[in-house]
Amino acid sequence: MAAVSRVVSAVAALLLILDTASAEKNATAKTDELMKRLEGAKLISGVLGIQKSGQFVYERAFGDAVVELKVPMQPEYIFALGSNAKFFTSVAIHQLAAKGLLNTSEPVNGYLDPADFPGLQGKPWCPLVHGVESLGCQKPTFSQVLTLTSGLLPVDLGGCGTPANWEPGMWFYQYKEANRNVSYADVTGVEGNLFDGTATSKDILNNMRVLERPLLFQPGDRWCYEDQNYNILGYIVEKLSNSSLHDYMEKHIFAPLNLSNAFYWTGGQGMQPGGLHSGVVPMPGYYTSFKGDPASYEKDNRKAWWPGELSLEGGAASSVYSNVRDLLGFINAVIVHPEALNLTSEAVTSLTTPIVVPLLSNGSKNSNFTDGEGFAKGVSAFGNPGEPHGVEFLGSQWGTQSVYKYYKNDEDPSKSDAIFYFSNTSPAIPLGANGNCTVVTADNSTIQLSNDSCNQLDQTDNNDFFNDWILAEVTAMWNLTGGASPSTA
Ligand SMILES: *[C@@H]1O[C@H](CO)[C@@H](O)[C@H](O)[C@H]1NC(C)=O
Ligand SMILES: *[C@@H]1O[C@H](CO)[C@@H](O)[C@H](O)[C@H]1NC(C)=O
Ligand SMILES: *[C@@H]1O[C@H](CO)[C@@H](O)[C@H](O)[C@H]1NC(C)=O
Ligand SMILES: *[C@@H]1O[C@H](CO)[C@@H](O)[C@H](O)[C@H]1NC(C)=O
Ligand SMILES: *[C@@H]1O[C@H](CO)[C@@H](O)[C@H](O)[C@H]1NC(C)=O
Ligand SMILES: *[C@@H]1O[C@H](CO)[C@@H](O)[C@H](O)[C@H]1NC(C)=O
Ligand SMILES: *[C@@H]1O[C@H](CO)[C@@H](O)[C@H](O)[C@H]1NC(C)=O
Ligand SMILES: *[C@@H]1O[C@H](CO)[C@@H](O)[C@H](O)[C@H]1NC(C)=O
Ligand SMILES: *[C@@H]1O[C@H](CO)[C@@H](O)[C@H](O)[C@H]1NC(C)=O
Ligand SMILES: *[C@@H]1O[C@H](CO)[C@@H](O)[C@H](O)[C@H]1NC(C)=O
Ligand SMILES: *[C@@H]1O[C@H](CO)[C@@H](O)[C@H](O)[C@H]1NC(C)=O
Ligand SMILES: *[C@@H]1O[C@H](CO)[C@@H](O)[C@H](O)[C@H]1NC(C)=O
Repeated sequence: MAAVSRVVSAVAALLLILDTASAEKNATAKTDELMKRLEGAKLISGVLGIQKSGQFVYERAFGDAVVELKVPMQPEYIFALGSNAKFFTSVAIHQLAAKGLLNTSEPVNGYLDPADFPGLQGKPWCPLVHGVESLGCQKPTFSQVLTLTSGLLPVDLGGCGTPANWEPGMWFYQYKEANRNVSYADVTGVEGNLFDGTATSKDILNNMRVLERPLLFQPGDRWCYEDQNYNILGYIVEKLSNSSLHDYMEKHIFAPLNLSNAFYWTGGQGMQPGGLHSGVVPMPGYYTSFKGDPASYEKDNRKAWWPGELSLEGGAASSVYSNVRDLLGFINAVIVHPEALNLTSEAVTSLTTPIVVPLLSNGSKNSNFTDGEGFAKGVSAFGNPGEPHGVEFLGSQWGTQSVYKYYKNDEDPSKSDAIFYFSNTSPAIPLGANGNCTVVTADNSTIQLSNDSCNQLDQTDNNDFFNDWILAEVTAMWNLTGGASPSTA
């Protein structure tokens, strides 16, 4: 009896393995077919990586890394991660908290040394809230800075409900007009160019005069996606560790996790200290436009980015570079082996617990928070326990994007699922004349996209929606759920 049942369970296990292998083969074929069609239609170029039950099961590259030089994309190529850098800075802050060097419930004010910020004129940072200065000095906590609820004034007029009548000259240092040759010497007294790789978070904060401006709202009152929050954190990491963010992350994040294809660098594209880093996908990426007719695909030249953006984007908010494998390795470490980063499970919970969107007295969600719904500390959380859930984020910088969705397996985190898509093409797909969203491929067949993948407004970049569509299609092919049953809702 026992022998028979052992044979039966051995056969069942074998069938499960065969079935899993067959499902994987099928999913691989389906994914290849979709991605090759999109590649053929010149809608995509980039790298797609999939983890299923903790195994890295799919990694392919599509299109070109450099169209002009006909350099084909390779799976191991490194991309600028844009805002995916925020989670690295956030982890660094939690590592310092674990060492007892700070407490995330504390205000950050006391960590900003007036001697480092000429604009503070020797006085501690004491921001007032614009319009309600009578409230006095505000003291945003680390948690508020990490969750982008600090009140820090946005760099873009019009963002976060900034009054439309605010003139740039009223509050903003003229960095918007600064070009890529801007020097921070005039502010800090240290010679340097924001793009020679020597700019620290302090230099960026000084150059943009971040600490000299009022807050837009009281800390905790609203959510506002403002990168400079992360340069405040980056400055504190640099200060408390007495090292550059490049060295800190190398020593405490990349090296311990064996991530040799990830690095922090504020300098020119493709560079790292010591010279050119090979295998870095150049920026800006490419903009594809279909000029109103899906059949008449045209690849725009690389978009000439407004030079002012270059200085705007740098630092602890967006200057990590990585390939797909290393970003996946980092997220796996945080979720599965936080001890490898000296993080406790409480720290990981803090890192990945989203802000609470307050309800108004009439029961509606406060619209000043809703854009931030799901945002935790440098990363977003999605889904509910019992349903597919986990962390996700989209980083984009100068036409390159890195987007991922990580489905945590609660029973065994080492069996989590994930999808990562890094891209250097931003398609602007117009809504077809018949009101639906299709793209005609080279063989004259059509690819039906979801409606919102098409640009209904101004036909500029609508890559976020398109990336979401790719992720959703491929996620279904692989049944990525982190082991939870997909919700039927
Ligand atoms: C894989 O595809 C084949 C052919 O379409 C099908 O017969 C088989 O059931 C599929 N396997 C799984 C596990 O879905
Ligand atoms: C951090 O500060 C909070 C609030 O003051 C306190 O409750 C908590 O125990 C502190 N954490 C540590 C590790 O000291
Ligand atoms: C930056 O400076 C270099 C050398 O002086 C010059 O060739 C280049 O055109 C400048 N770039 C911009 C954007 O002003
Ligand atoms: C900080 O680092 C610099 C340069 O590496 C070194 O000269 C200095 O002594 C260090 N300071 C502290 C407090 O460790
Ligand atoms: C973790 O802490 C130990 C002991 O202080 C230290 O040796 C190690 O370098 C730390 N690891 C990281 C990733 O910082
Ligand atoms: C990194 O590589 C070393 C040497 O191969 C190995 O001992 C260590 O376990 C690896 N660490 C991680 C987190 O993979
Ligand atoms: C609730 O109040 C807010 C703010 O006054 C308002 O914008 C929203 O429309 C109200 N919702 C409902 C359902 O009345
Ligand atoms: C959102 O913020 C704006 C600007 O501060 C404010 O006027 C408005 O009352 C806020 N809305 C809610 C629902 O809190
Ligand atoms: C969208 O248009 C394509 C081609 O023009 C057509 O084949 C398809 O049926 C249409 N889909 C919908 C939902 O209208
Ligand atoms: C796509 O969206 C537009 C605008 O919201 C709508 O007019 C159109 O009917 C939609 N098309 C389809 C096929 O759902
Ligand atoms: C696609 O359609 C166009 C216009 O109808 C035609 O000129 C072209 O030859 C077709 N291409 C293929 C591969 O059938
Ligand atoms: C997808 O995975 C979930 C969780 O393991 C499972 O419940 C579901 O049956 C799977 N769906 C398919 C189509 O394989």
